[in-house]
Amino acid sequence: MSNLTVYWDQRIVGTISRHQKGKITFQYAAEWLESSGRQISLSLPCREQRFPPGVSTAFFENLFPESEARTILAFNRRFDRKDTFAFLENFGEDCAGALSIIPEMENVIHHRSKYRCIDAELREALQAIKSEPGKHKLYPELASGRLSIAGAQDKLPVYYENGSFFLPENPASPTTHIIKPASPYFHDIQRNEAFCMDLARQINLPVPHSGLYTFAGHELFLIERFDRLRLSNKVIRVHQEDFCQAMGLPFNRKYQEQGGPGFLQCRELAEEYLSTDISEVKQTLTAVLAFNYLIGNNDAHGKNFSIIHEDIIKLAPFYDLVSTQVYPSLDRKLAMAIGNTFRHDRINENSFTHFSKDMKLRPEKAFEVIAKTALEVERLYESVLSRHEKQHGKAEIYSNLHTVLRRNLNRLKEIANQVNSADGKKPRL
Ligand SMILES: Nc1ncnc2c1ncn2[C@@H]1O[C@H](COP(=O)(O)OP(=O)(O)OP(=O)(O)O)[C@@H](O)[C@H]1O
Ligand SMILES: [Mg+2]
Repeated sequence: MSNLTVYWDQRIVGTISRHQKGKITFQYAAEWLESSGRQISLSLPCREQRFPPGVSTAFFENLFPESEARTILAFNRRFDRKDTFAFLENFGEDCAGALSIIPEMENVIHHRSKYRCIDAELREALQAIKSEPGKHKLYPELASGRLSIAGAQDKLPVYYENGSFFLPENPASPTTHIIKPASPYFHDIQRNEAFCMDLARQINLPVPHSGLYTFAGHELFLIERFDRLRLSNKVIRVHQEDFCQAMGLPFNRKYQEQGGPGFLQCRELAEEYLSTDISEVKQTLTAVLAFNYLIGNNDAHGKNFSIIHEDIIKLAPFYDLVSTQVYPSLDRKLAMAIGNTFRHDRINENSFTHFSKDMKLRPEKAFEVIAKTALEVERLYESVLSRHEKQHGKAEIYSNLHTVLRRNLNRLKEIANQVNSADGKKPRL
């Protein structure tokens, strides 16, 4: 039976073999170990022996879309949705990070990059999504290519240039952007994400370039890939993995309540493996926690944080910053507990104190970062909202975002006042 070859850009890293029950095993190539010595995951450290099916499958399966898109893709290509080997064989050519997964028999080394313009198909697919809400998905309809991208929301990785969209024709053609269309389930989510990501950028959180984009009359959220480097004549893949992959957890354990990572585990991983200033990393994670609290993003789970493997290992920019609290039907529980609670409305001074212990930060330092983030958000959110409204037109989502932000800012102020009065100091927020 043939195997799959794993490439890191155009070099062979290792081999994937089929195991029982849809699982796979991974083994590094001897030549890769000798010449490069780079690990593809913190959960798959360099070694000669083949990795067991559990950890091999968890890492690679985390590259796939979740829920419906995965079911449709598997159905269309006639394989079982749990067949990890078949999924990689069909869709592993362009993934998150630097890896391309290609059937062993195919020769990829001498390919030159080649893309196909999909403007017409994209226009049609977006029209279909709009006319028959819930019946169409961008990714399955356009994934004639062998692409994979994780997550629950519909999206499509593309190569984008001068207002046109393209799909790769071979493995030597990395995608550069991700498109997320409007959702029939979460009203104006594309505007929601464009606003939250913009606000994050304004308060100096590290985020990729992104924005709302109108294509053939359809609004899209368009984001640049931070795992691609665009040189003058080619695009290079940069390796990344999310925290579930790094911890060897399957994607169905992305939520802390289901055995996924919490802030304590994220900090431990950062302390053990990241090559950058750990105190800065802990403060950045604290700032994003405060930001997510304020925008009401309850879905910041283990797959929404990633690390980049370059010469050094570092935290990736933040992505998927969306207010989930503007949609009352969505789960109110937090993906990661803050201190001792998963409930946003039960967070109090103790939760943040407990959180600061998880982060191994002095409570005063953690509160300082949280307060600074809140002050910046408070200073800027109204002007960012009104700029978006002016640019893209009035919409209910903007007033809902305003309500959520105002409420969460007030809650945080109350908590800060409790902290400060306990300290006997003047309120800082
Ligand atoms: N700008 C980016 N650059 C590189 N990779 C990205 C970028 N944005 C997202 N990704 C990758 O794509 C995956 C899915 O993206 P994202 O989290 O935005 O989707 P989602 O469907 O909204 O997720 P969820 O399932 O959390 O709702 C991420 O886990 C990450 O691996
Ligand atoms: Mg996500």
